[in-house]
Amino acid sequence: TQHRLLGLSGSLRRASNGTAVLRGLQDALAPKAVLDIFSLHGLPLYNEDNDGEHAPESVRALRLAIETTDGVIMVSPEYNHGMSGVLKNALDWASRPYGCSVLRSKPVLTMTTSPAFTGGVRAQQQMNETLASIPARPVLRPQIVIGSVHEKVSDGRIVDEATLRFALAGVDDLLDEIRAARLVRVAA
Ligand code: FNR
Repeated sequence: TQHRLLGLSGSLRRASNGTAVLRGLQDALAPKAVLDIFSLHGLPLYNEDNDGEHAPESVRALRLAIETTDGVIMVSPEYNHGMSGVLKNALDWASRPYGCSVLRSKPVLTMTTSPAFTGGVRAQQQMNETLASIPARPVLRPQIVIGSVHEKVSDGRIVDEATLRFALAGVDDLLDEIRAARLVRVAA
């Protein structure tokens, strides 16, 4: 069966290298899986006063997109040794309502990118910690960390073969996690 995946980029920058990784994966995965990219541009800052039944339209759209996908791929830049606030804000919205978040038990693959050789590894750690608290089902290996990313992107897409293979290995683990999650649901 063809899997449906949802891509979230933690960078709003037009020429974002992280978003370029998602675009490269989109091409490489077809037709095995369809990867839709959901833009976090329209999300307001999290405010518990505005959550609940009358949550903003963009928040409801994000929650629906996560609910109806088989698995999520999150790509974040590292900002000051953490994940981007854009992505953390999206995770905070998606984590509610408490106890029945659309991310609960949802398989999620995290990736970080950086022009530095460290690849955003510190942000990677933080993303997995946040996902564990929801609890989503983070794919804990092979930890897709992409350093010197600006040298691996051309025309808004990741083009470096080795990097693409590395990222695709992570997606394979995500697909395994999706199958395992399905088996658990069928058995329940
Ligand atoms: C950065 N950058 C950065 N890089 C890194 O490897 N570690 C870090 O801690 C930081 N911190 C940081 C803070 C802020 C506020 C900015 C704006 C940038 C650099 C960052 O990796 C670079 O801007 C990337 O190009 C952002 O990713 P996109 O937009 O290309 O996806």
